[in-house]
Amino acid sequence: MSRNDYRILSERFGRKDGHKLSVYESEGGYKALRMVLSGMPPAEVREVVKDSALRGRGGAGFPTGVKWGFVPEGAEEVYFFVNADESEPGTFKDRYLLDYDPHQTIEGTIISCFAVQAKLAFIYIRGEFGWLVDRVQKAVDEAYAAGLLGKNILGSGYDLEMIVHKGAGAYICGEETGLINSVEGRKGQPSLKPPFPAVSGFLKKPTIVNNVESVASVPWIINNGAEAYKAFGTEKSTGTKLFSVSGPVKNPGVHEIPLGMPFREFFHDWLGGMVEGEELKAVIVGGSSVPVLPAAEAMNITLDYESTAQAGTMLGSGGMIVIPQSSDMVELIQVLMHFYFDESCGQCTPCREGTSWLHKIVKRLRGGKGTIEDLDLLEHVCNGMAGLTICPLADAAVMPMLSFLEKFRPEFEALIQETAPVGMNSRWPRGEQEK
Ligand SMILES: Cc1cc2nc3c(=O)[nH]c(=O)nc-3n(C[C@H](O)[C@H](O)[C@H](O)COP(=O)(O)O)c2cc1C
Ligand code: SF4
Repeated sequence: MSRNDYRILSERFGRKDGHKLSVYESEGGYKALRMVLSGMPPAEVREVVKDSALRGRGGAGFPTGVKWGFVPEGAEEVYFFVNADESEPGTFKDRYLLDYDPHQTIEGTIISCFAVQAKLAFIYIRGEFGWLVDRVQKAVDEAYAAGLLGKNILGSGYDLEMIVHKGAGAYICGEETGLINSVEGRKGQPSLKPPFPAVSGFLKKPTIVNNVESVASVPWIINNGAEAYKAFGTEKSTGTKLFSVSGPVKNPGVHEIPLGMPFREFFHDWLGGMVEGEELKAVIVGGSSVPVLPAAEAMNITLDYESTAQAGTMLGSGGMIVIPQSSDMVELIQVLMHFYFDESCGQCTPCREGTSWLHKIVKRLRGGKGTIEDLDLLEHVCNGMAGLTICPLADAAVMPMLSFLEKFRPEFEALIQETAPVGMNSRWPRGEQEK
């Protein structure tokens, strides 16, 4: 198969005017919606998506069709949110989907809304993506003008309104309950689950929150069927996936590949390997919240949910950060710990205090004032955070922190040795040395 055969989602990436309705329709766009509205019952649409085994592309990999099935049968008021908050370091695929091909996501959203019988959909776009809000709003306007949104869509009797909502630039509003709370006009802070949004979400009504890439995959699945989708990928990780790749590789950017591709193949054949003068040191496969893999371990995985889990990491959002030998791992983790400290919403003590301490301690190490005991202290702080909070942001800080410590401990130790004052044994706690 050639690379073009894998382009389910990225067909119009980089294409002139690919964002316009005329181009999208001339290439078969809105055919799936017409098929659905010409007589497919919502339950059948849900079934096709469930059979395709599409897993949510926002990070957790929860099966999309199964999630839709949690909406109570016969619920009268159902809401749908497309999550385009995309704020995790390393992740930049959804902005490509919305920038180059907004109608694909809009069509997928209309079909998804029909499947759960939602009458109001929000596309929630990260606050910093100002240009994208305009781009998507224009596409939504085009869809309204063409009778693809609003009352009695394409004469089917189905009504759907769509609102493009601009976030205010908080990573935590990408978490689904934080997102819903912020649209309700509350503080953008997550709520305890259960209840899950599918049962009680926006205005306490059943609400589905799906990632952009998840809904953008739906038109292709409807047009081609669940079996055709499952022909890509592995048994449990079906279909294709976008990976946004940053770092000094020859071909960074967004690539669509079938799930299950060996990382080794992706790295050499798609990314072109490292740029001249750099060597691969490590890879963060699925966005900054997942554990880092040293190069040798990364070379043994395949890019799917199961293989990454077996290797002790996660596929996550597919935000792949390629780290060269020339990178300082302590500096890198300091940048990440600053991010999580800065973005913690502060309502859970282990997260508010823990992210603050992780950042402070790593900063102290880099400032030349760390001790070997600080490495145990970092682990101790992590142990007081993981799994103890309302949302997974605390875990998202802990996972990279612990993996950096485990896999690259010699770099932390070397830094402490190098920066210890002359004549002092840096294995002693600072207070002891100063006595
Ligand atoms: C701190 C945090 C930030 C998140 N940010 C995003 C995001 O920007 N986009 C996204 O789709 N999901 C994000 N998620 C996951 C969402 O809570 C939710 O699981 C996802 O939107 C569901 O969509 P999916 O089932 O299609 O993957 C985030 C989760 C957490 C804990
Ligand atoms: S874990 Fe952190 S970000 Fe999540 S709700 Fe608690 S304080 Fe807020």
